[in-house]
Amino acid sequence: MQTTEEYKITDALASFVEKWREKPGNLIMILHKAQDEYGFIPRKIAIELGRILDVPLAKIYGVITFYNFFKLEKPGKHNIQVCTGTACYLKGGIDIIEELEILLGTGINTVTDDGLFSIESVRCIGCCGLAPVLLIDGEVFGKLSKDDLPKIIADIRDR
Ligand code: FES
Repeated sequence: MQTTEEYKITDALASFVEKWREKPGNLIMILHKAQDEYGFIPRKIAIELGRILDVPLAKIYGVITFYNFFKLEKPGKHNIQVCTGTACYLKGGIDIIEELEILLGTGINTVTDDGLFSIESVRCIGCCGLAPVLLIDGEVFGKLSKDDLPKIIADIRDR
């Protein structure tokens, strides 16, 4: 979903940039901070950071696209993070993602047309004993089967 929202450098991001401006590895740290602030890296912010840091936009996008962690699209209101770490992978984490894609009619790293949900694959979230696991709005759902998913989605949708 392409957004038309306007994004400005927040005060928190501006002071972070000042703190990191001269330090090695600053671009990654600043992009992390930007994603913390907006939930993704808006294009306008990438352009602005390039200007402030005197770094070519192509270099910024090179970093963003190299690391899976960075998002170029605003996540859904409820971002569903499915663990695909080793334990969850072995217990069917990929099946969980595929079922979510079917239920929500959207793919991984994309947002439903109503903007409510997005699906993301994440590394181990530290609840391996509950594998397979997903995380929505900070809430952990564990020992999942595909059959659990319609109810979880319906409950979140009603919030
Ligand atoms: S591998 Fe999924 S929580 Fe650790």
